[in-house]
Amino acid sequence: MRRIGIVMMVLSLWSCNPSEGHRLDVSSPENKINVSFNVTEDGRPYYLTKFEGQVVIDTSYLGFEFKDAAALGKNLAIKNSKIATVNDTWQMPWGEQLDVVNNYTELSVELQETAAPNRLLNVVFRVFDDGVGFRYEFPEQEGFDSVEITEEHTQFNLTKDYKTFWIPGDWDIYEHLYNTTKLSEINALDYANHNDLAQTYIPVNAVNTPVTMVSDDGLHLSFHEAALVDYSGMTLKIDTETFNLECHLVGSKNHPYKVKRNVPFHTPWRTIQMTNNAPELIESNLIVNLNEPNKLGDVSWFKPMKYTGVWWEMHLGKSSWDYGMTQNMSTWTDTGGAHGKHGATTENVKRFIDFSAKNNIGGVLVEGWNTGWEHWIGFEDREGVFDFVTTYPDYDIDEVVRYGKEKGVDIIMHHETSAATETYTKQQDTAFALMKKYGMHTVKTGYVGKILPKGEYHHGQYMVNHYNNTVEKAATYEVAINAHEPIKATGLRRTYPNTISREGLRGQEFNAWSSDGGNPPEHLPIVAFTRMLAGPIDFTPGIFNIKFDAYKKDNQVNTTIAQQLALYVVIYSPIQMAADLVEHYEANPEAFQFIKDVGVDWETSKVLNGEVGDYVTIARKERETGHWFLGSITDENERSLTIQFDFLDDNQEYTANIYKDGQDAHWNDNPLALEIETRVIEKGDELTLNLAPGGGTAISILKK
Ligand code: NOJ
Ligand code: CA
Repeated sequence: MRRIGIVMMVLSLWSCNPSEGHRLDVSSPENKINVSFNVTEDGRPYYLTKFEGQVVIDTSYLGFEFKDAAALGKNLAIKNSKIATVNDTWQMPWGEQLDVVNNYTELSVELQETAAPNRLLNVVFRVFDDGVGFRYEFPEQEGFDSVEITEEHTQFNLTKDYKTFWIPGDWDIYEHLYNTTKLSEINALDYANHNDLAQTYIPVNAVNTPVTMVSDDGLHLSFHEAALVDYSGMTLKIDTETFNLECHLVGSKNHPYKVKRNVPFHTPWRTIQMTNNAPELIESNLIVNLNEPNKLGDVSWFKPMKYTGVWWEMHLGKSSWDYGMTQNMSTWTDTGGAHGKHGATTENVKRFIDFSAKNNIGGVLVEGWNTGWEHWIGFEDREGVFDFVTTYPDYDIDEVVRYGKEKGVDIIMHHETSAATETYTKQQDTAFALMKKYGMHTVKTGYVGKILPKGEYHHGQYMVNHYNNTVEKAATYEVAINAHEPIKATGLRRTYPNTISREGLRGQEFNAWSSDGGNPPEHLPIVAFTRMLAGPIDFTPGIFNIKFDAYKKDNQVNTTIAQQLALYVVIYSPIQMAADLVEHYEANPEAFQFIKDVGVDWETSKVLNGEVGDYVTIARKERETGHWFLGSITDENERSLTIQFDFLDDNQEYTANIYKDGQDAHWNDNPLALEIETRVIEKGDELTLNLAPGGGTAISILKK
């Protein structure tokens, strides 16, 4: 049973009139972070931010440029301001924790131009102890009823050459490897022609968010945005000489503006998480806190779950999505009819259902079930190809759903839109109604390829609206969305909990076919402190047959098998795939026991240690059962980490099943060496984890 959270809200408000040019100062509840706001003599608004007394963001200007209207960012005067203190706790229907503390101080500033056209603009700051969010509000006003924004000139003027973990500011995809360089060495344009991407566009030297930085003295920063609604995605343009970051919005080829809105409206929150160490970045709830409360009400129709699926076998080339042609990601051969390699057959799906039913796994994803895959990648004219209701002849959806129900396993729907958004928008009611008829509550959507209509990008306002409208429409059919090739997560899962998970990074699939050697061992120890700060990730862990030489000689997963297990705890998602082939799991039931046992929905999560790009250890307590699970992963370096079990319940013994890298385990030379040890532990015990290069440890800590 979920208990109802106690929500306390203490509001203290006062107004001041700083017309004499007084600076406005506001501090976080425990005074760790301070923000100052003012306007210059010529009326340019700016802010500064301090963390524990040190200036982290120096004078940074704010403003906008519009098509057919004067820029807004000069001749502004502070008309009014107010400060409010909020102490709030809310509950996640599912998540990394049940109770989320939301304490902040808010400064709202009303600005007005001192010269015609005397437009009004508000800036609102929310100052938390682990970071700052601010947004612009365009209030209702006469003579200013719509805007066409050509650029938002928000600055983050840093004072140091931080070590930065970044991906390029690609307008069309986030699936790049992270780079670790000095801020002054960022060169995103080097990525303009990256391999293996169905679409990519990097116009300037900018990075996508979350982008995470670490200073020599241990300050950790991460820049992102929250509540991205009816606006375009923000990339950050890098000035490698002055260390200034500036908002560079994603645009469109179809019109000269980047965002079009009617007034009143407000922008997404621009966010800066600031902590003294890496673990607190992951523990920060700033992004979700800056979103509106749940608008959907009761969402108990979705249940967090593990799932298997007809998926990895296509990426390995064992089977195909399509029925009548063979395909290897982008190359097609017409075999003139059924080729016998089609993956989504009734029989094959039943095999996954049987395996899932036996192993405490709630769902089976079926890709390639519907007609249209013959015209998937590389086709210009993709509109109208997929209809999301017509099955291939060897897939009996009635029977599969019936069989799944009999065994207590849900079928997870798949809608590969091939980025043909107009078709998908038109088909959604029919497609979601079909799901409703079958009692399916989860769909994985996909947007591979260049966006149709031509000229739009995955991260522009048009697509932000498409993704958000899809989530809202799906909710009316009690459908939850796991989007691939998505817009970045910005905490909207608080408002629309049916945005359960998404891709938006280089996922496991790259290990199956990328031409650059796959994801290196440092990938996930970076992802945990970058992409994962945005929200849940459908990474699809759990590959046991690490080298899969029977299918692909030149590709492999670059971790040990113990790390694959640890990922179920390290990476948060309310749907977590057991991605490998059934036969690979059946060949290793001892290791599979961890996946069978591990939870997917958490009462609380603790990040026990970590350094960005090096390693991380997370322990999570399962809701309902009170069992704990621990995952620890490292990059290409082996390391020993000592864990104190001080987070366990008092007076409770636990059986700890420890899945660790075996003797001489190594991500490349010996990835399958795994040792499993069982012992009794209790609160206060200590354990040293020895992680192999590219390795990990997974522990199920089950109440006795
Ligand atoms: C790319 C997705 O990331 C992958 O998971 C999926 O299998 C293919 N598209 C086909 O939709
Ligand atoms: Ca993808």
